[in-house]
Amino acid sequence: FNVPTPTNEPVLSYAPGSKEREELKAALAAARAKEIDVPMYIGGERVTTDNKKPMSPPHDHQHILGHYNEGGSEHVAAAIDAAMAAKSAWADLGWEHRASIFLKAAELLAGPYRAKINAATMLGQSKNAFQAEIDAACEFIDFLRFNVQYMTEIYAQQPNSAPGIWNRVEQRPLEGFVFALTPFNFTAIAGNLPTSAAMMGNTIVWKPSNTQIYSANVLMEVFQEAGVPDGVINLVYVSGPTAGDVIFNHADFGGIHFTGSTGVFQHIWKTIGENIYKYKSYPRIVGETGGKDFIMVHKSSDAKEVATAISRGAFEYQGQKCSAASRAYIPSNLWDDVKDYVVADLATFKMGPTEDFGNFINAVIDEKSFDNIAAYIDGAKASPDVEVIAGGNYDKSKGYFVEPTVLLTKDPKYTTMCEEIFGPVITIYVYDENEFEATMELLDSTSPYALTGSIFGRDRYAVEQATKTLQNAAGNFYINDKPTGAVVGQQPFGGARGSGTNDKAGSMINLLRWVSPRTIKETF
Ligand code: ALA
Repeated sequence: FNVPTPTNEPVLSYAPGSKEREELKAALAAARAKEIDVPMYIGGERVTTDNKKPMSPPHDHQHILGHYNEGGSEHVAAAIDAAMAAKSAWADLGWEHRASIFLKAAELLAGPYRAKINAATMLGQSKNAFQAEIDAACEFIDFLRFNVQYMTEIYAQQPNSAPGIWNRVEQRPLEGFVFALTPFNFTAIAGNLPTSAAMMGNTIVWKPSNTQIYSANVLMEVFQEAGVPDGVINLVYVSGPTAGDVIFNHADFGGIHFTGSTGVFQHIWKTIGENIYKYKSYPRIVGETGGKDFIMVHKSSDAKEVATAISRGAFEYQGQKCSAASRAYIPSNLWDDVKDYVVADLATFKMGPTEDFGNFINAVIDEKSFDNIAAYIDGAKASPDVEVIAGGNYDKSKGYFVEPTVLLTKDPKYTTMCEEIFGPVITIYVYDENEFEATMELLDSTSPYALTGSIFGRDRYAVEQATKTLQNAAGNFYINDKPTGAVVGQQPFGGARGSGTNDKAGSMINLLRWVSPRTIKETF
């Protein structure tokens, strides 16, 4: 099991005049200059339809980047057939070949495709260059390299034997196909959900979010160039209900790898339950869902560090990271300083299109999301319990722009303290500095989620107390740091409660969900 030791892909700086910036600018210009027609990929064939749907940058919604070909239930059925047809040859191919293919995909992304995947993520999902680089390039490259290592560790684990007896465990892929249903907010997650299951010998039907198809198309090019055989990863663009009707009624449905909203995941789980008698095996259900990620601050904290965690943790990528801080509990002794630092920091954030490298804030993903966020802001403006500390304006005339918005509430159970908004809005509750424990208990009972959270404090007894009291409040718990930016190979990522099945992305735990072990005992 000698595979290259994985290391995290270095983040490039994109400094003015750097080679990487020039390459990225060229890729952006090339993408802007040419409308593309994005096919589905079924059994290695490029499939087009008469149903062409436009793709636009969220920050420039009148510009057409190209069209994707929307399919119907026949395309989902064909993708399942292709996955099932490719299955045994892929599973029988030695693990080293699967490892090689995905390591090559990592190298393609690190080198020749880096500018192209980052440009596609900047244009299609409105991420600035840095956010695209840490996602579409580095995080996905890390997923591929580290998962290859975890795969070999899984295959290496074998039971004890005894004189005259040889025991072994065979890590077979699941029976049936795996459905990857992927989100818009991380190109890396969109890539990881199909590839992690495929790496373990499964074949895949992949349905990306409609708002990530532009970069999904580049990922598919990379997979093909890396040598993923035809039919192993089949990419379809259909509505959720169309996909669900075919997939969850199919006897060969083997599992779902999901990232998206809690409501959709719960609906899927219920549908799978209703259809359970139809399947050959109990399907694997792996999902990362919503969050209401927190920053909890002890009175011993450094106000400036807390303010930086708020402005970065809440507003990078317009608050559309599943890990983004969206509520903070600040002790009364620190509030004035934290407020001043946050307001000063936000004043330096420029907002605009991603192609202007100086813009920290870009657009939110689409009109539906924009309207939803705007409604929360309007509600806050109208509430006697809430004060707008920063931001609060929005404009969708050219792109879906929402200012980074800080709300201060007197009511710790105000709507925006409880519900997921998925946008650049954080709500602050200032608590009596002597009510640390009671405030943490309040925090723990305020939302149904448990994805990420931070505790700030210099007093180690307070940090220890928070670690214990908030033990079930976050699957990724940060001490004196913002709650975003988990690095593959360093902080396995995922949450429990309403935030998911907690099968940590970028870990052996996740890859183990994509195998069905057979124990073999041989007696001599
Ligand atoms: N890896 C992403 C983060 O932690 C999800 O922000």
